Amino acid sequence: MLSENLKKETLANHQQLEKMLVVKMKSIRSPQDYVDLLQLFYTYFGGLETLIDQHINANELSDHAARRKSAALAQDIIDLGGQPLPKATGADLPPINDTLDAFAAMYVIEGSTLGGKIISKMMAQQLNIPDGKGLSFFNGYGEDTDAMWQAFKQRLDEKPKNEQEEAKMIHTADQTFAMFHAWITKQAA
Ligand code: HEM
Repeated sequence: MLSENLKKETLANHQQLEKMLVVKMKSIRSPQDYVDLLQLFYTYFGGLETLIDQHINANELSDHAARRKSAALAQDIIDLGGQPLPKATGADLPPINDTLDAFAAMYVIEGSTLGGKIISKMMAQQLNIPDGKGLSFFNGYGEDTDAMWQAFKQRLDEKPKNEQEEAKMIHTADQTFAMFHAWITKQAA
């Protein structure tokens, strides 16, 4: 099944990204440091979302409107006193040319709600931020996170009609992970 193969085939790039983010998160000492982390997610996911929205609407994914958007990241940044930076564009993003690519990139974004639980717990422990301010994005869908993930995977698995389409989706998802790593490295330079 596509979702199982996606997990397997993108594992190396997921782990590489996770490793870099864990190092970054461990060095966060102040709300300002945390805003810098939120900006990385906002600029990359926000750029992806602009491309994805050209190919996915409620017809393709009935609960699309209810899914987490980069606006939540922008709000977290503003709540902590920051200003959202310009979103990534062009060659900093993977090519999203059709619905298959859009679902593949969305797999990466939606899957990050699972790791997000770990991120929000770490940040809440490390920073003294009142009332969970700035944590809305990483809190994902709260108690509904697993159900939302299962529902997304079900729709995802219906998308590819043959092996070529499945291979294309795996390639795009893998690139989406790898290019986030490259984007973070570029912002730190
Ligand atoms: C500190 C950073 C991260 C940690 C510790 C982390 C950890 C995890 C863990 C533990 C899971 C498995 C959860 C489960 O099966 O219930 C998971 C799944 C996933 N994460 Fe991450 N993650 C991190 C960052 C990210 C980021 C930034 C992205 C996307 C850009 C991402 C994308 C995914 C995806 C797509 C899955 C689903 C894998 C699958 O079952 O198909 N993760 N992550």
